[in-house]
Amino acid sequence: MIELTSQKDAALAAISGADTLDALEEQRVGALGKKGWVSLALKTLGQMSPEERSEAAPAIQAIRAEVADAIAAKRQALEAAELEAQLASETLDLTLPAPDMLSGSVHPVSQVMDELAEIFADLGFAVATGPEIEDDWHNFTALNMDESHPARAMHDTFYFPDKAADGGQSASSSEAVGQKRMLLRTHTSPVQIRSMKEQGAPIRLIAPGRVYRSDSDATHTPMFHQVEGLVIDKDIHLGHLKWTLETFFKAFFEREDITLRLRPSYFPFTEPSVEVDVGYSNEGDRRVVGGHGDEQGYDWMELGGSGMVNRRVLEFAGIDPDEYQGFAFGLGIDRIAMLKYGMNDLRAFFDGDPRWLAHYGFSPFDQPTLSAGVGARA
Ligand code: DAH
Repeated sequence: MIELTSQKDAALAAISGADTLDALEEQRVGALGKKGWVSLALKTLGQMSPEERSEAAPAIQAIRAEVADAIAAKRQALEAAELEAQLASETLDLTLPAPDMLSGSVHPVSQVMDELAEIFADLGFAVATGPEIEDDWHNFTALNMDESHPARAMHDTFYFPDKAADGGQSASSSEAVGQKRMLLRTHTSPVQIRSMKEQGAPIRLIAPGRVYRSDSDATHTPMFHQVEGLVIDKDIHLGHLKWTLETFFKAFFEREDITLRLRPSYFPFTEPSVEVDVGYSNEGDRRVVGGHGDEQGYDWMELGGSGMVNRRVLEFAGIDPDEYQGFAFGLGIDRIAMLKYGMNDLRAFFDGDPRWLAHYGFSPFDQPTLSAGVGARA
């Protein structure tokens, strides 16, 4: 016991003399660590007789508490002194200019999707979304492309490896079979089916989003963006379609002198089907939508597909084609973004080069608003 008391006195002196946190830590380990003298003393209690122990234990515990308290107090003092010294030595020059901060920008595709939503919102269209991992019933069958339809082959589809049926959650048997085959949606048209099944008619929506095809060259990327449009009501006809697209293009390209041409075409999901062409002019070496064409008149560029929704599609989606009819359209978002903002390389859209984004991106603080209109940008 006498020995412990003198060890304690020596330790307390060393603790109070420690002038760094490291030195203090050394004292702590020497006393309270696993092999520290206090811990070793505590271990001797096990070999003592009960009488001896009841006398020695409180004394050793008291020593332990005293040493631990001294260390804690010293640690606080050392830490406070360290902070004090740091504050005294550091100065902050508030007059220095702040370093340049990198700020992000909005990708032109996101910008154009926002613009689309704004313009179509003014026309009473809601925005709908659907899964990018789709089943072939929604992507093809319900859009009037059954298994043997040649249009399926034209879509360069990314299929997932076949897997077992999911228990046939769906209502119709053809739908249940179709759901076995999963794919990356090749167009936004399956959102038509999902929305009609969910909401019924009447319906008025756009569905912008990513689509995928196994195709890659200067003008095709395996992932690209489309916007789908769908209007179903009683008495909707092609005139509504033409007016809607014309009104959209005028608002989007921010000019009145825009001419549309609907050219007969074929899509399995529309009947009749039309290709949507827009007149363009050459300004220098740039093609711009609208204007007065050249001496020969307009040149036309194709911006999308469209038509009156095929009654088979309405039936697949659970809508009575004798009561309701309507139109649908699909436009390439990347294409119209390139035209509007003068970008000429599609692949650069998805390279993720920050220099390209800094150049073509948009300030997040200048987003279109309903009140200011999409043209109200600095
Ligand atoms: N889904 C078609 C495609 O990706 C585009 C399309 C054409 C959509 C006509 C439509 C439409 O809604 O009516 O090639």
